[in-house]
Amino acid sequence: MRLQFNSHSVPVVASGSTMSQVPKVKFFNGKEMPVLGLGTCLAKGDEVRQAVQLALECGYRHFDTAALYENEEAIGDVLGKWISEGKVAREELFITTKLPMIANRAEDVTKFLMMSLKKLQLSYVDLYLIHFPVGMKGKDENDILPKDAEGKIILDMDTDLISLWKAMEEQVDAGRAKSVGISNFNSEQIDRIMKSCRIQPANHQVEIHAFHQQKELRAFCHKHNITVCAFSPLGAPYKEEAKDKPVLQHPVDLHGCRWGKTPAQIILRHLIQLGIVVIPKSTNPERIKENFQVFNFSLSDKDMRDLDSLDQGRDGKIFIFKDSLLGVSNHQNTHMIFHFRI
Ligand code: A2P
Repeated sequence: MRLQFNSHSVPVVASGSTMSQVPKVKFFNGKEMPVLGLGTCLAKGDEVRQAVQLALECGYRHFDTAALYENEEAIGDVLGKWISEGKVAREELFITTKLPMIANRAEDVTKFLMMSLKKLQLSYVDLYLIHFPVGMKGKDENDILPKDAEGKIILDMDTDLISLWKAMEEQVDAGRAKSVGISNFNSEQIDRIMKSCRIQPANHQVEIHAFHQQKELRAFCHKHNITVCAFSPLGAPYKEEAKDKPVLQHPVDLHGCRWGKTPAQIILRHLIQLGIVVIPKSTNPERIKENFQVFNFSLSDKDMRDLDSLDQGRDGKIFIFKDSLLGVSNHQNTHMIFHFRI
């Protein structure tokens, strides 16, 4: 099942109840990405093992991780077991991981992707993303978020996105990544890559939820045939910055009563109907199941307009990296602020 476009160019998704029927978005290269996956950034060790195990049992086949999350090994334990026991075929899975900021230089890309593949017990990932446009300098490969004595990020001021992207393309050539993409980039940075690339980014992963819908950036990506994946589609309710922006508590969620759906299901369905891939995070068995039940109902045009109108633009953004990654705004790659407030 594919996302289709109606006469208003708004993607609509036919119903389906099993993961094999989960709609997919199609990349420029013909590869496909399931519109729903499990986000894993909050969990490590046994917690993520249990979440991935349960998600696989529910029918999830798309998992999103990153070297930065330090959970690839745990996720790999579960994936490896499922594949070796024949419970799932590698081709049925869609696995995304990301180049950490301490490896944002051409000569490090192969090494870091190979490390990720080893931990994930895979020979390739479906999607490899540059996690963040800013490079950092770690003491070693385990110093994943290097900070100085004052808690400021140790930046690598030499990050060159163009040569870095060439090294990403080489991962496709080598078969280690089926597709490559970016995360947390602004449109100016994407534009520079588009102008010089041999293999274009297939996907852009960025904060998107009802209060921060990234309409301009999405239109920009759409123009370049870059699919979009929303991280924190539920508005990251665990974050302090989200306390005064509780996406899941907005009254528009009452629409869910009509189908007996929860606010989270309505919020996810809205993004899916916009053609956005969603990767809600959860380690809670009930919520992992709940977030998967979004394919047996459809929001009307009026519902979609109501949900569209919740957008607060930049004010709705929860991840303000200049605060959470102290000192990051001193990097030249954060100077080109366009659609992206760092
Ligand atoms: P939990 O792991 O306890 O389920 P986001 O993906 O937007 O960053 O949100 C992730 C957060 O939202 C996690 O803290 C997760 O907590 C919580 N969450 C995930 N699914 C749901 C849901 N269906 N309803 C309410 N909260 C949810």
